Amino acid sequence: MTTGYFRPYVLGMVALTENGAPVAPGVRIPLPPARIDALSRDILELKRRLNAVILAHNYQVPEIQDVADFVGDSLGLARQAARTNAEVIVFCGVHFMAETAKILNPRKTVLLPDRDAGCSLEESCPADQLAALQATNPNFYTIAYVNCSAAVKALSDVICTSGNAVNLVRACPADRDLLFVPDENLGSWVMEQTGRPMTLWKGNCYVHVEFTHAAISKLRRAYPGAPLVVHPECVKAVRLLADEVCSTEKMIDYCRQTPAKTILIATEAGMLHRLKKSCPGQEFVAAPTDTCQCAECKFMKMNTLEKLYDCLINRRPQVELSEEIMAKARLPIERMLEMSTPRPQP
Ligand code: 13P
Ligand code: SF4
Repeated sequence: MTTGYFRPYVLGMVALTENGAPVAPGVRIPLPPARIDALSRDILELKRRLNAVILAHNYQVPEIQDVADFVGDSLGLARQAARTNAEVIVFCGVHFMAETAKILNPRKTVLLPDRDAGCSLEESCPADQLAALQATNPNFYTIAYVNCSAAVKALSDVICTSGNAVNLVRACPADRDLLFVPDENLGSWVMEQTGRPMTLWKGNCYVHVEFTHAAISKLRRAYPGAPLVVHPECVKAVRLLADEVCSTEKMIDYCRQTPAKTILIATEAGMLHRLKKSCPGQEFVAAPTDTCQCAECKFMKMNTLEKLYDCLINRRPQVELSEEIMAKARLPIERMLEMSTPRPQP
């Protein structure tokens, strides 16, 4: 497991453990603590001057999580974006997340530290191919996992995240044929939970499919009695080994309530920083893949503290979307927020 503070990803280089195994698919060179402190101070001052809010996903590098106003999963971040009064939203996550914030706040400036921070799920589902599939069945009701482009959202009936997908699918119209895009693993998990058949788009998260049954079984043998928490983007063979399958935010809830002192975590390694801060009395072990000691999303790790500073000072890169796409994409996002807002008991 990598520790400490790191700087941009240097592709093609591999960090090694003591026994020569690769630590991660790339290496980030440590940023000195004094530099982190100075940059963080400047970022907080710039944020104040711009009346900006910094939203960060649970997979962001520790130093970004530490300066953020809110750190969470896709659902929590969308909720924060929908309710913020700030004039500028700085979104430290991947591109589709910043797009969602822009769609909910079309008149606000939405910045993201690295415009190229994409997502393999988003890439797997081009809007024209989705439209062609939808044309084959007018009774399709399209549920799009939030990890997709604004153009795909604009073609969808409702958006979901890993935190609300099961409840949203339960609430979908019973007389419609459900089409779930773009993650076939999340989709198959939702089908198992709800018993509702769905046509699944064949996309996946390149990070979570790296966890294998063999590597996770070995981890379980090394930590007998430690519960295993797995993200639903993992393949079924891995989900079947888990004590809990849930979104990154629900991982925090699970760890807070379990009496276990050691917990095994099968998701992107950035999650461990958030877990350690939220549950200081517990030990977390990042699940390995067949080739690495933990899994990192190269897209999430494109954002760095330096790029965060640069985007605040330059007020770019900014998310830009056409009014037409935003208007069409807003409806299914708002439907999701409406359907997943907890209601007081009568
Ligand atoms: P969460 O919404 O569970 O944080 O998942 C986002 C994601 O991109 C997982 O790979
Ligand atoms: Fe996309 Fe996977 Fe990275 Fe999440 S971890 S942003 S699903 S590539």
